[in-house]
Amino acid sequence: MPLTPTARILQSAEEHGFAAGSFNVIQLEHAQAILAGAERAQAPVILQISENAVRYHGALAPIAAAARTAAEQAGIPAALHLDHATRFDLIREAADCGFGSVMYDGSKLPWAENVGSTAEIAAWCRERCLLVEAELGEVGGKDGAHTPGVRTDPAQAAAFVAETGVDALAVAVGSSHTMTVREAELDLPLIAELRAAVNVPLVLHGSSGVPDETLRKAVAAGMRKVNISTHLNRLYTEAVREALAADPAVVDPRRWLGPARDTVAVEVARLLEVLGAHGRA
Ligand code: G3H
Ligand code: ZN
Repeated sequence: MPLTPTARILQSAEEHGFAAGSFNVIQLEHAQAILAGAERAQAPVILQISENAVRYHGALAPIAAAARTAAEQAGIPAALHLDHATRFDLIREAADCGFGSVMYDGSKLPWAENVGSTAEIAAWCRERCLLVEAELGEVGGKDGAHTPGVRTDPAQAAAFVAETGVDALAVAVGSSHTMTVREAELDLPLIAELRAAVNVPLVLHGSSGVPDETLRKAVAAGMRKVNISTHLNRLYTEAVREALAADPAVVDPRRWLGPARDTVAVEVARLLEVLGAHGRA
């Protein structure tokens, strides 16, 4: 089926009280695994490509075309999302490549600059029916707003959404990017407060470090988009290591990429169930 607008998936998440799983694509195999997992769970899904992944490939178009074609061949609603974008030229290119949403990341900018540039980008995107997610301008170490300890203030969040006109908001509630152990503690009462204060879907970044039960509670408290990358990459790479160790003479990459892809597909299906998205395709 054709790509589904991210807005439609988030609207369904709001209506039915689940969170959309948003998983990072680096290689074609990631896109295939995520889509296979979503099909298994009969869940809608968001494929996200980060500015960092674009830097790795040297261009957005090839990996975006691969993800898009795979998504169009899948039997569940799938959206394309540009993640952690700081460059306007990349956002423009994403619009041309059929993306349904972009996350503009001005989180490392001071408040006024973050508000100004986010509002400008949100206005540009609105004219093109592109959903915009943004993050608050908290400064705090290398992870910005997702450094453990940093928290989004509900009143400030409401003001930020009103001033910028963004459609979804990434909030800092205790998660942190690139965690390889699942032991983050989220501030669940704060999620509920943010949900009451802000009239757009809330997004949880750095969800790899969040245990299943806490993810369930975060969704119940109002999270509507959950971004997961490192956790899947950890499983992917572990499966590659295992396959290479099991057959040190292996030459054909399909012999070690295939098992890694299968491993990620099974975990994506499981996570989509944790997020309550299963059966919502
Ligand atoms: O935007 C991407 C996510 O926030 C993923 O973070 O790699 O810590 O799961 P993670
Ligand atoms: Zn993130």
